[in-house]
Amino acid sequence: MNTQRIAALLAALLVAGCTALSRDALDRQFGAADPTRHDAPLASTGEISYRRDVQPILERRCVLCHACYDAPCQQKLGAWEGIARGSSKQRVYETRLGEAPPTRLFEDARKASEWRQLGFSPVLNERQPTAEINLAGSVLYRSLQLKERHPLPQVTILPETFDFSLDRAQRCPQLAEFDSFAREHPLWGMPFGLPGLSGSEMDLIRRWLEAGAPFAGLPPLPAKVERHLAEWEAFFNGDSAKQRLVSRYLYEHLFLAHLYFD
Ligand code: HEC
Repeated sequence: MNTQRIAALLAALLVAGCTALSRDALDRQFGAADPTRHDAPLASTGEISYRRDVQPILERRCVLCHACYDAPCQQKLGAWEGIARGSSKQRVYETRLGEAPPTRLFEDARKASEWRQLGFSPVLNERQPTAEINLAGSVLYRSLQLKERHPLPQVTILPETFDFSLDRAQRCPQLAEFDSFAREHPLWGMPFGLPGLSGSEMDLIRRWLEAGAPFAGLPPLPAKVERHLAEWEAFFNGDSAKQRLVSRYLYEHLFLAHLYFD
């Protein structure tokens, strides 16, 4: 082994050691992680509703960046399941020699704990479920708090630390890495490069996280929509030439958009 290789190996061991150490420290501070905590949402407690109170804020302030397949850190915020899945350091588009397993939300894994197997880290607290730790142990909360503590500078041209290019390097710090990330990039709180949430928006998200990020699920579809679904499903399952051609055509275009038929 040449010196360069040995140095690289030592550096890798050191980094692995540091992460293991800080994980130990987190276990002592917040209790051990339970990766199945968000496999199913807590039922809504009634006081704060995800759909009524939280989702509109995420839709107004976050999904413009956190909705696409290649969202930063693969963090999707358009559905509760995306929040429960968390973030990944793995980039969706990059030059690579081998193929990468796809990570489509609702498709390639179902539960948060299954996403952990595919390299996703929690942004909700998975440690002791107290109100306090539900905040301190949540990367999502920490990233909002970072912006609260270091608001967007009031200048005409933003400092260079904000890189908005599509292929910007990304850090996606896990909980154990968050303190050093915050020290290095104090201005990188969320929403990235934009003004922070208002006091009342922060308050709603804080109370929702403190309660354990409950979600009552989606309301049942209206009967009219259920009828449409049944009709289309029957059509897609038919085997006339017309039905097969239409099914094929729609299937091949689904990657482009959601199709809407009145
Ligand atoms: C202008 C685009 C943009 C907006 C708007 C935005 N983000 Fe982000 N978000 C980013 C970028 C870029 C990163 C990756 C930062 C890095 O390098 O770690 C990120 C990362 C994250 C992560 C993952 C952090 C990690 O450690 O893995 C979370 C959670 C997050 N954002 C939450 C939010 C929330 C909540 C909002 C809305 C209040 C929001 N973001 C709005 C661009 C944005």
